[in-house]
Parts: sequence; C-alpha cells; structure tokens
Amino acid sequence: MSDLREHAMSARECAHAPYSNFHVGVAVKTTEGEVFLGANMENASYPEGWCAETSALAQMQMARPGARLAEVYVLGQGKGVLTPCGGCRQRLSEFGGAATKVTCANLKGDEQLFTLGQLLPSAFDL
Ligand code: THU
Repeated sequence: MSDLREHAMSARECAHAPYSNFHVGVAVKTTEGEVFLGANMENASYPEGWCAETSALAQMQMARPGARLAEVYVLGQGKGVLTPCGGCRQRLSEFGGAATKVTCANLKGDEQLFTLGQLLPSAFDL
C-alpha cells in the first residue's frame, strides 16, 4: 500500500460523519514532502460540515503557512473512486496548481490518478 493511501486510511478513522455515515479520509503531501491529514467533520446544522479535503488543507496551512500541494490522496467508501466535490476542487486549487496529482480511491483499492487541472479546468483565480 502506498504511504499516502495508508495515511488517508488512518485519517478516515477520524471522520465525524454521524449524519451521512459516509467517512472520507484525505492525505496531502506538500512540495517539501510533508504529509497532512483530514477527515470530514459533519454538523447537526448540515451545511456547516467540512469535507475531508478542507480539514486537511486547514491542517497544512496552520502547520506550514504558505505550503504548496504536490499530491493529494482522497479516499471514500463508495462503489467508485471518490472524486473531490466542486468546492473542494476550488479549495485544492488555492494551494496547488494544474499539475498537482490527485489520486481518487475507494476502500476496495480502486484508484484513479488525475491532475488538478483535469478535475478543475480553467480554475478561477484572481
Ligand atoms: N465529502 C468529503 O469529505 N469530500 C468530498 O470531496 C465529497 C464529500 C463528505 C461531505 C459529507 O460529510 C459526506 O462526504 C457525504 O457527502
């Protein structure tokens, strides 16, 4: 198992998802080689929940302000691989670039490698 998959599996254990019961784990690797983890954090007020990508990015930025993304591993329990939601694609784009690698996976071990540019073409930027 790749090290990022292993990290994402352990991150997923920390999900707080009592409403959807859909547990997501994310591991991000910075261009400096450091790894940060995130899991989804749901809330009784449903729209206030955080996706796993969002919590991983917050962990990264708090520990290493200014860090940039080299790789992302996203893991969910669906039939198919979990691809980041639209909002998270934009959030990943804030800290990465078109070449950032995003591996989308599920528990069965299916994996699909994308670039962030493929997932979010013509990304919005100021
Ligand atoms: N979720 C993520 O954590 N990341 C995604 O990219 C898609 C969806 C979470 C949000 C919610 O807690 C649960 O999965 C079901 O939508």
